[in-house]
Amino acid sequence: MSYSIPDTVTTKGPFQPMRFEATVEECIVTHGEIPKDLAGGIYRTGPCWKRPTKQGTAPLLAMDGMVQGLVFDNGRADFRNRWVRTPKYVLEDKYARGMFDYSDGGFGDYRDYGYGEVVRTPENAHTPQGTSSINIFPFAGELVVSGELGGPPQIIDPITLETKGIVPWAPALSKGPHEVVCFGDGTFCAHPKWDEDTGILYGWSYSDTAPYVSMKYVHPDGTVESRDLWDAPYNTVAHDIWLTPEWVVMPFQPFIIDLQRNSKGYAVFGWEPELPITIALIPRHNLQGEIRWIQTDLPAQYVMHTMTANVKGDQLILDAPIFNKPPFPMEQDFNEGDQAALFFSNAASYLGRWTVNLTTGDTKAERLSELPSEICKVDQRFYGKRHRYGFQIGGQPKKHGMRMDSLIRNDVDKVTEQVYQIRGEGELAAVLEASFAPRTTDAPEGDGYIIVPVSWWNERRGEFQIFDTDDITAGPICKIELPFHMGWTPHGHWMDFRQKTIQPSRGTSALTI
Ligand SMILES: [Fe+2]
Repeated sequence: MSYSIPDTVTTKGPFQPMRFEATVEECIVTHGEIPKDLAGGIYRTGPCWKRPTKQGTAPLLAMDGMVQGLVFDNGRADFRNRWVRTPKYVLEDKYARGMFDYSDGGFGDYRDYGYGEVVRTPENAHTPQGTSSINIFPFAGELVVSGELGGPPQIIDPITLETKGIVPWAPALSKGPHEVVCFGDGTFCAHPKWDEDTGILYGWSYSDTAPYVSMKYVHPDGTVESRDLWDAPYNTVAHDIWLTPEWVVMPFQPFIIDLQRNSKGYAVFGWEPELPITIALIPRHNLQGEIRWIQTDLPAQYVMHTMTANVKGDQLILDAPIFNKPPFPMEQDFNEGDQAALFFSNAASYLGRWTVNLTTGDTKAERLSELPSEICKVDQRFYGKRHRYGFQIGGQPKKHGMRMDSLIRNDVDKVTEQVYQIRGEGELAAVLEASFAPRTTDAPEGDGYIIVPVSWWNERRGEFQIFDTDDITAGPICKIELPFHMGWTPHGHWMDFRQKTIQPSRGTSALTI
């Protein structure tokens, strides 16, 4: 079977697929030097188009996950990228064709995501449809790649990027919106947080039907504490949380997912701004304890990604980029047959703050910056403790959305920001989510390096720029070049090789580096 890359928004410009596996040893450094004290890897995952779906289309979330890793050791960097060998990938590789037909794979317009129900056939009857294309993070000495919906996470070797198999704790996960098709076919969230001291991973499964969310606290030995949130107010896209010393803070927002919407001619995602934003304070240390539900009277807003959480007295301070509506095309703004640009062309967000008075439950919202920004990160060693610094990509307002061209370093104590523009006017590049790497394992919070992947897709080259947190306005201290453009990746994390190995989860081997 032969085919060409389809001419759609999901495969053009920054979304051009990096449709090959590469190994680049001793990457070329075009500026500065790689800090010799860096030892670890920056890992990313994203949807990458390999072949047409069974319907002949290219919905973004039906594409296979592709992981990328840039590994540092003693002033040297090696790059690799590999497909994630999910059950879906393996099945389609066997038949060398798309094996799934999606309820949101044939609209031919902005409604196609590839998250809908699939038609089950004898060939795919027991194969989860998930693609592990949303986030990759360290856990218990290993790397875990997750697709949020459609199937369980996979373990990835941090050096070879080989897919080692489904996480051994998959049977403890709960189903997502899709029916379970095999043993262990659960889902895990895109943006779990973890406690660096205990190694506990704070995650969840979510669905469009009650109980909507099931919390999953995964311990380094692979045991999982679970709790179904039967009191959850409605089905939300439970994409991200904040973590404080005492709580998982989960926002229920009117950005909803409902697979039944496809049969009514809508996309799986919907925006129902009349639903009240409700914040769940879920106990970290006693999952079966009392959950505090705070129904706010905040205006319709949307936080896609959280940044910092701090508790000061009776004030819970939640900082994040805040949209007025999700950066996804909705039926309120688009018609049948319309194509729509992806993500940040649809809406702009600005760093904002929700402050919850823990005594009264009153909540207020405010804007902290006039600079559009998103895809925020923090020093992940301090998840669940306190954070002063955040790192984002941002830029300028552009039509309905925002141009992402700059690295931003936020100080949320002083409410100040540093900015460095990475791509200039007229330059075509995808400035992707940054990752923070500490200067040393015991460096103060936020002290170290910020690594920014930049895909100069129009010039067919890739780049990683490294900034020193002492002053990002001085520009990158190092640029590492790849001889090809990098595919689009939404998320990833730093994995440090300098810290002691945490006991691996059951049924997997220890990481020895
Ligand atoms: Fe995300």
